[in-house]
Amino acid sequence: MKALTILVMILRVVVLLALILGIVLWTGNADNLKPVHMILGILTVLTLWAIGLVQGFQKGGSFPLALATFVVGLIVAIVGLYQEQWLVGSAHWVIQVIHLLLGLTVIGLGEMIVARSKRRLKATMTT
Ligand code: HEM
Repeated sequence: MKALTILVMILRVVVLLALILGIVLWTGNADNLKPVHMILGILTVLTLWAIGLVQGFQKGGSFPLALATFVVGLIVAIVGLYQEQWLVGSAHWVIQVIHLLLGLTVIGLGEMIVARSKRRLKATMTT
């Protein structure tokens, strides 16, 4: 459980930093910080995958949830890496919003998985 607690804390920090930097990028400022944002994004994906794996190997862990972290993480990375080439023009905001929502999905999924694991652990300790 300790590993998941640490991983979810890391996830919160990297998503928050990626979000802040992403919003700064959105305003058209600090384009030179794009690589920093991308590294934070990649760390976000790796942390989500680690959460999926760790819970998957726990007793009573869920394979579908582990798979979900891999699928969501992969989509976040692919959209993040290629978004600048998609819907170039006035409709580009659609991709930007999708990218933001995917980023927020990562934190939602990570938090949900860790909360589920903690509940399961508590239940096995009280029975
Ligand atoms: C592998 C993961 C990620 C990669 C490669 C990535 C890459 C990028 C790139 C290249 C941009 C600039 C796009 C442009 O200037 O048109 C951007 C913008 C942005 N990113 Fe990410 N990002 C990732 C993850 C995240 C995460 C986890 C969040 C957190 C919520 C996030 C939030 C944003 C926001 C709000 C913007 C500004 C709006 C936009 O252009 O979409 N990104 N990202």
